[in-house]
Amino acid sequence: MTDAAPPKSERWQIQVRALHKSFGAQHVLRGIELDIERGKTNIIIGGSGQGKSVLMKHLMGLLQPDTGHIYVDGEDIVGLDDVAIGTVRRKFGMVFQYAALFDSMNVVENVAFPLTERYRLPRAEIMSRVRDLLQRLGLPGVEAKFPAELSGGMRKRVALARALIDRPKILLYDEPTTGLDPIATKNVDEMIRRTADDFGVTSVVISHDMASTFRIGDRIAMLYEGAIVASGTPQELLAAPHPALREFVETSGAVRFDAKGRIL
Ligand SMILES: Nc1ncnc2c1ncn2[C@@H]1O[C@H](COP(=O)(O)OP(=O)(O)OP(=O)(O)O)[C@@H](O)[C@H]1O
Ligand SMILES: [Mg+2]
Repeated sequence: MTDAAPPKSERWQIQVRALHKSFGAQHVLRGIELDIERGKTNIIIGGSGQGKSVLMKHLMGLLQPDTGHIYVDGEDIVGLDDVAIGTVRRKFGMVFQYAALFDSMNVVENVAFPLTERYRLPRAEIMSRVRDLLQRLGLPGVEAKFPAELSGGMRKRVALARALIDRPKILLYDEPTTGLDPIATKNVDEMIRRTADDFGVTSVVISHDMASTFRIGDRIAMLYEGAIVASGTPQELLAAPHPALREFVETSGAVRFDAKGRIL
């Protein structure tokens, strides 16, 4: 094993090396090795409690590991001071697992929050950016509404708008379709793909949902017992499935393939 940094790479935007994290006696991440491909939709799958959310929080410096490295555009973000980590964090937008909208703020205030928190911008500019983004995400007319007045699917899109407002290079989604019906799930899947295409971002998506995973993933990594046990394109994963992955796919029953191995 070597501690040498991987060379700055055009292809890989984030590279995680030998990452360990414990909470008390619980060793959650046990030597994670993970590569996130620039401009692609990268999906992380794994069972409940395996450490997916913990891993994702490390990617943007919201948690610090016990040991290991996280290279973002070639820069190791582990151990950076608050100012430096703040700069790195501006590359990221995150759509959190549990509705992370502020209930006491309306839609405009929620979406504008990263801008008002980080910069001194004229109100007119903030409003025009927020309106433009809500329009692009198919959310006109909701500006003055509060989160409680929106459907679950609309709340997800508002959360996405907030994650996008500061024009991140990397978007992290933690189980964006949990709690949505199949049609709303498909809509969110399409939104993730369209966002990747329209905004040119690198997407990292945590998912439980195998059908979604194979529908939208360019690369898939499986987290199991604290390590990434399989990773690659959907076809690569299915060609050589790790037993844990095979079980995951088979029990989901949601994925069927045509003769060429494409997802039906
Ligand atoms: N801040 C924390 N303090 C202590 N333990 C934590 C903390 N965050 C997570 N854990 C523990 O780490 C383990 C992994 O949690 P994590 O939230 O990453 O799971 P997950 O894979 O995202 O699961 P799910 O699919 O249910 O969201 C869990 O056992 C959890 O209790
Ligand atoms: Mg989670």
